[in-house]
Amino acid sequence: MLQFKQRAAAALEAAIGTLAPGSSPTAAELSSMLEYPPEKSMGDLAFPCFRLSRILRKAPPVIAASLAEALGSLPGLKKAEPAGGYLNFFLDDSYFTDTVADRILSEGERYGRNDSGKGKTMVIDYSSPNVAKPFHIGHLGSTVIGHSLKCLYDFAGWKTVGVNHLGDWGTQFGKMIVAYRRWGDEETVKKGGVDELVALYVRFHKEAEADPSLNDLAREEFTKLEHKDEENLRLWKWFLSVSLEEYEKTYRQLGIVFDAYTGESFYTDKMDAQVERLREKGLLKIDDGASLVDLSAYGMPPCLILKRDGSTLYPARDIAAAVYRKQTYHFDKCIYVTSNQQILHFQQWFKVVELMGYDWYDQLLHVPYGTLSIGGEKLATRTGNVILLKDLFRMAIEKARQIMEEKSPDLPDKDSVSEAVGVGAVVFYYLSNSRIKDTDFNLEDALSFEGNTGPYAQYTYARCCSIIEKAGGVPEKGRTAGYRPCEAESALCRVLSLFPEKIGDAIRDSEPMVITRYIIDVCAAFNRFYHDCAILSAPEEAARAFRVRLSACVKTVLGNAFGLICLKKTPRI
Ligand code: ARG
Repeated sequence: MLQFKQRAAAALEAAIGTLAPGSSPTAAELSSMLEYPPEKSMGDLAFPCFRLSRILRKAPPVIAASLAEALGSLPGLKKAEPAGGYLNFFLDDSYFTDTVADRILSEGERYGRNDSGKGKTMVIDYSSPNVAKPFHIGHLGSTVIGHSLKCLYDFAGWKTVGVNHLGDWGTQFGKMIVAYRRWGDEETVKKGGVDELVALYVRFHKEAEADPSLNDLAREEFTKLEHKDEENLRLWKWFLSVSLEEYEKTYRQLGIVFDAYTGESFYTDKMDAQVERLREKGLLKIDDGASLVDLSAYGMPPCLILKRDGSTLYPARDIAAAVYRKQTYHFDKCIYVTSNQQILHFQQWFKVVELMGYDWYDQLLHVPYGTLSIGGEKLATRTGNVILLKDLFRMAIEKARQIMEEKSPDLPDKDSVSEAVGVGAVVFYYLSNSRIKDTDFNLEDALSFEGNTGPYAQYTYARCCSIIEKAGGVPEKGRTAGYRPCEAESALCRVLSLFPEKIGDAIRDSEPMVITRYIIDVCAAFNRFYHDCAILSAPEEAARAFRVRLSACVKTVLGNAFGLICLKKTPRI
């Protein structure tokens, strides 16, 4: 469809240019004005003429009528029909059925890619759990939205750098050290891993309620750590490696690999230079011993840089990290994915970066997302009343396994399929909503094979694989000669032709939901086709060949789209 859009936009540019020389919007602008009509009776594409009426000094319906005449002979176009202020394009079915399958099958894994980001680099800061605190489901959003955006940019030709900005520095390590020395031991942590660390952390908070002096001790231990106390440094490194080992299990389940694990601690020696720059620029104000940047002129509370004792705060580390990334990766865009509770934090320090005179401040982009709850319960970190991401995945995998046992008892690789389906169900369900909305998670719904879910999409994928396997491979185009596709087939081709432009839409809105919704559209169109048309048992050889090819296209498009949202391909379910 993108190709037709481009062709139509070029023709519109020429036609408008003839009506009023030199005043036409560019082809790119015209292309972005094209809309998909809400109903089939209004055609495949519509061009609204309202904005042109000022330029052409005519009423929109008059413009639509004269453009209809000028555009009538575009290749692939059945008719262009004015309707009110719109010009509606009706495309030839054969335009889709002839070209779409060839293109998809020849491009394969490249179908949907473009090179609009060629030569550009984006850095994306995502997942970033806080070591020693639980990796809870509040981090699911950052992890899967972040990874999806990284994949989308990669699809659009950008060079991408995925950074895990681990929360691996701060007073919580003082707390961990105190807790470990009081109530922990090496054996138990070795056996219990992160769970044991979290238990110690939770215990610290409980005990500190009764004995607040523990907090002072924790601060002292952290200060010792900051001054590179050997024993504290050793413990810190150990806590870090225990945690990372476990995070990586979760990342493996999602198919995520980071390019860099540069957490907050990485910037300890990189902050002085930025604090110095803030001072030079006269931006630092001392307030009650702490250093901050006054942002009242921008309607924001002050951005805190240094505590009274001179230690740096979260925004200072972010500023140092942004400068480091600019110098290291020369990014054209640097994206941060966090919960919407941090919107102000990002607005503040982005402003500070601007005030510091870094001219790339407008290349920083914060992508926030809403809160995730399970059965209406919100998540609290400190009390231990949290749902861990790994537990959510484990529950989903177990449930998926039960379903597999019932549905396909003979499946040979039940373990890996249950993992792909269970984890995929969680991710798909989560990414099916607009990222900024709060989501209430329901495992039953997520795992249903009937709704608009991950398992439904993976099942459709598996169905396509099985058709191709039974057909003994994908037939050559020549074998479809003379076949005239039916309505369900051309509707499916139309949907498949939309994939390339979905990439741009998803990037424009930083919104993986564009892809999950699109996957559902493909599955619905495929299932209608599957229902309406006999595939392997089609009497005519040309019909059979066409339909198997079409199933192979669906497999390719779904597979490519799955890769954009952490959903694994499942040749068998
Ligand atoms: N560790 C932080 C948290 O869990 C998220 C870090 C986001 N990235 C950043 N550069 N601030 O809340």
